[in-house]
Amino acid sequence: MIRDLHTELIEINRAQISPAVLERAGAILRAGGLVAFPTETVYGLGADGLNEEAARKIYAAKGRPSDNPLIVHIADTEALNKIVQEVPKAAEKLAEAFWPGPLTMIFHKNECVPLGTTGGLSTVAVRMPSDEIARELIRQGGGYIAAPSANVSGRPSPTTAQHVYEDLNGRIPLILDGGPVPIGLESTIVDLTEECPVILRPGYITRSMIREVIGEVQVDQGLIEENALVRPKAPGMKYRHYAPKAELLIVEGPMDQVIAYINGQCCDSGKTGVICTEETKTCYPGKVVKCIGSRKDERSIASHLFQVLREFDEEEVDRIYSESFHTPGLGQAIMNRLLKAAGHRKIYVT
Ligand code: TXA
Ligand code: MG
Repeated sequence: MIRDLHTELIEINRAQISPAVLERAGAILRAGGLVAFPTETVYGLGADGLNEEAARKIYAAKGRPSDNPLIVHIADTEALNKIVQEVPKAAEKLAEAFWPGPLTMIFHKNECVPLGTTGGLSTVAVRMPSDEIARELIRQGGGYIAAPSANVSGRPSPTTAQHVYEDLNGRIPLILDGGPVPIGLESTIVDLTEECPVILRPGYITRSMIREVIGEVQVDQGLIEENALVRPKAPGMKYRHYAPKAELLIVEGPMDQVIAYINGQCCDSGKTGVICTEETKTCYPGKVVKCIGSRKDERSIASHLFQVLREFDEEEVDRIYSESFHTPGLGQAIMNRLLKAAGHRKIYVT
């Protein structure tokens, strides 16, 4: 990969967002360039979503397969009408309930959205983030900002500007640093082009939250882990993702059995990693232990998952064992990402 650009990292004070900086960042986007920026979910790598050439630069900077479509970010609900053919009633209700916020919806696209943005699909994914820096940047950048997560393809999504810098230094001109993101998992994706809405990627907005607003909602069969033969409908969900360098294995079962199993494992170098919680962090003597959060606060687990996966790349461990995190609300989204990182390697202990 070529890293021949100077990458500027600018810290933004959220209490007083600098109009001059946002204006400059917007000008880069309007001229067809790339800017990384914070959202409430993960950092995004933005380009003008209505400019095919600009969108292409995103794929090059990330090393992303060109059939993996981008999400177009908007700052106001009214902006939706220009880029989609129709807004179904269910989408109106979901937008009212969850926008701005961590929900992406799929619609039939209008002509003005280039196929270079949608990975050749006739549909387009749209999201209105709640992060104020993101919204102001979208406005300044022309209103339609295509943005995948701002990581090199295959790496964990970035939850700090530093993660973006690690991955994209030398490949993009500007990173806006708005501090660590609050959610830490990418948005929930719902496809509204089908008869019945379908969740293509689980996220902070859960199936039951969606049900409360629109009634019936399906989950894409390709996401159901046991069903490895069915292709997920969101092209990005089929790729290997988030994987740390060392092999990761998820251990499920009663907690005392999980702890006993992990402690019974050793490897050639004698160094194994463990992903666990506040409640169990002292239970793995002699291992390289990373505490992901507390089981009493599932949001803490969600927000540290990608950071912990990145941190393990700095450790000389041969193998990583992770407890599983089937928490009540975000458990589905957390385990979806963790299973992908583990290449679906999981064992049950009893
Ligand atoms: O929270 C988020 O959604 C973050 C922030 C930056 O907004 N963005 C993000 O983008 O996660 P990305 O590119 O990493 O993931 C987008 C996912 C991919 O799995 C892609 O295949 C799917 O959305 N997608 C995009 N457009 C689609 C479409 N028209 N039909 C089906 N899936 C689509
Ligand atoms: Mg991504």
